[in-house]
Amino acid sequence: EICFFFPKECTLAVIKPDTSEELREEITREIRAAGFTISQQKEMVFSRDMAEEFYKQHRDKPFFNQLLDYMCRGPCTMLILSKVNAVEEWRRRMGPADPSKAKETAPSSLRARFAKDILENTVHGSSNSQHAEEKIQLVFGEISSESQVISTGDHDV
Ligand code: TYD
Repeated sequence: EICFFFPKECTLAVIKPDTSEELREEITREIRAAGFTISQQKEMVFSRDMAEEFYKQHRDKPFFNQLLDYMCRGPCTMLILSKVNAVEEWRRRMGPADPSKAKETAPSSLRARFAKDILENTVHGSSNSQHAEEKIQLVFGEISSESQVISTGDHDV
């Protein structure tokens, strides 16, 4: 008998600033309903330095400063999600960065339904498992003590 083994994967999901409490709850409900385990969750306000590190891949992009302004504007909900194929599935559920494109190609995605525009697009997800590991360490590891933690809790563990 052949047994296929699919290991669980972790990804970092972020609900970005200016998202109402109701919408934050709706998004986390959908995450659970989709079969993800939320292994850690906290609310946090990014410091400028930490946001710069978080988005260092985009340092040279014309939208970098606006992106940092937005990400540091208020509390983010940080979530470690675990599931088989978590990285790819969470990105599929978010949809493309630009909500006008998301509405065409992925109308049921979170960004199609909730994003304001390509900058203020409600959610973040790691683009590969190496980034996931790096950003989880940044946000939930010791370095993150620089940024202000509002609340913290362990879920589903
Ligand atoms: P990107 O990594 O391309 O998208 P994703 O969030 O889907 O991984 O871009 C990162 C963030 O940068 C994106 O969520 C919003 C912002 N952004 C802009 O403000 N303008 C742009 O033209 C792009 C491509 C991204």
